[in-house]
Order: sequence, then structure tokens, then C-alpha cells
Amino acid sequence: WGEDGHAIVCKIAQSRLSNTAAKAVKKLLPKSANNDLASQCSWADHVRFIYQWSSPLHFADTPDNLCSYKNNRDCIDHKTGTKGRCVVAAISNYTNQLLDFGTDTESQFNLTQALLFLSHFMGDIHQPLHCGFVSDKGGNTIDVHWYKRKQNLHHVWDVSIIETQLERFYDSELGEFIDAIQQNITREWADQVEDWENCGSKDAPCPITYATESSEDACKWAYEDASEGSVLGDDYFLSRFPIVNLRLAQGGVRLAATLNRVFDTQLLVS
Ligand code: ADE
Ligand code: ZN
Repeated sequence: WGEDGHAIVCKIAQSRLSNTAAKAVKKLLPKSANNDLASQCSWADHVRFIYQWSSPLHFADTPDNLCSYKNNRDCIDHKTGTKGRCVVAAISNYTNQLLDFGTDTESQFNLTQALLFLSHFMGDIHQPLHCGFVSDKGGNTIDVHWYKRKQNLHHVWDVSIIETQLERFYDSELGEFIDAIQQNITREWADQVEDWENCGSKDAPCPITYATESSEDACKWAYEDASEGSVLGDDYFLSRFPIVNLRLAQGGVRLAATLNRVFDTQLLVS
């Protein structure tokens, strides 16, 4: 996602934190953030090129047209062939680092960075094209037209579908857009929210499940009718924006569930 998508995920998440988790997040955020997690949720994109090691942690692409995610096969840095360097592993890793918060001994990890990476990657893994195809770099090399403008397919999903909704439906007010998604969470999607949080019998996080959902959505919604050179207009926009909103909501709900679990566990281990 772009800046707006990440901010939406983090606003939803912060509004769902338990008291314990909210206190921990406040303590870990830089002072300059004014206790606003959303303001820091694109930090990982800003350091992506200075911390080159972090670049493959934003996605987990899959073989073309398989439409399913296999962790052992797909969690890999394709440039170096290093296994375990992808968004799925990054979510597990930074979640585990945060378990050090509140223990008596000082953590060997930078827990502020762990929080900001986790908050960002929980957003990214829900963007279907972050689990897109290896050969087109998750749609980055597919050039299309978004209405009259030249764009690549990855950017359409990161930014354009959100931007067009903001302009058309919300008078360009991000807060109004977030309120509408929050209303869906408490109404239309209310009976699914517990399933999002718990992913089967297991507790959050279940990043393999999130990546599997994304790779399926990539085939079904992102790549469908969007080959090189296509013109994407109302047909594509109106059928895809509900998917984008669902993925943003799931990202926010699951980030909150993960942080609540991590910081409420502190009570047991510290
Ligand atoms: N670079 C290569 N694949 C990518 C993806 N799926 N998302 C973002 N950047 C990428
Ligand atoms: Zn990213």
C-alpha cells in the first residue's frame, strides 16, 4: 500500500488495542509521533533503500498462475536465493521480538523498529499483489491505464483504487473513509471478525494464511482482466474497491489482535 493504505490499517488497529497494548505502543512510538501509530506506518518504506536487507521483507511472490502460497517455496529473496526472507517470516520475526517488551532485561532488539516494521508488514501482506507473481514483480512490470492515466498494476492496487474512492465517495477526507471501513467492521463484517483474528484454531498471527488469501485474491481480482496495456475504468474499479477495503480492514483487525496478544502475554512472562 501507499501512505494512505498503511495509515488506514494502523488507524483501525490502534483503535482496537487493549489498555495494556495501547500503553506499550505509546511507550515504543517515537515522541514525535504524538502517540499516533498511523503517522509511522510508512516508515519501513522510507528506509527500504537505506536498509537494503529489508527490501525483500515487503512481499512474498508466488510462481505464475498457481494462485496459492507455499511457505517453503515462496518465502525467499529471489535476488540472493536466501530462504526465509519475505513478508511472512518478517511478521513472525518482529512479533517474536516484541515479546521482549516489559521483561526486566533490556532487549537485544530495537523494539521501536520492531513495532514499526510489524505494523507496516501486516498492511503489506494484505495487499494481494504483495503475494503476486514472481515474473512481473507483483504487477510492477505490467503497464496499464487507470482511467486516462498510465500506471503500473501494482501501483493501481497500492494507491489508485484508494485514491479514486477518496475523491469520488469521501470528498478526499481520509477520516471519512476510515470511519466507513470501521462501520463495516462493526456491521456487515461483524460476524467474521473473530475468524480474522483467530485464523482457525490458532492464535494470531497466522501470516501464511494472510499470504494464501492474498495470492488467491491476486489471481481472482488483481490480474483478472488487467493484462499489459489494458484500460482499467469503472468496471474494474467498482468490482475491486470492496476487496481493497476488506483487505485494509483485515490488516487493521489482525494487527490489533497480534499486538493485544503480544503485550497481554507480557503480564504472564514478566
Ligand atoms: N518487488 C518484487 N515483487 C514485489 C511485490 N510483490 N511487491 C512489491 N515489490 C516487489
Ligand atoms: Zn511496504
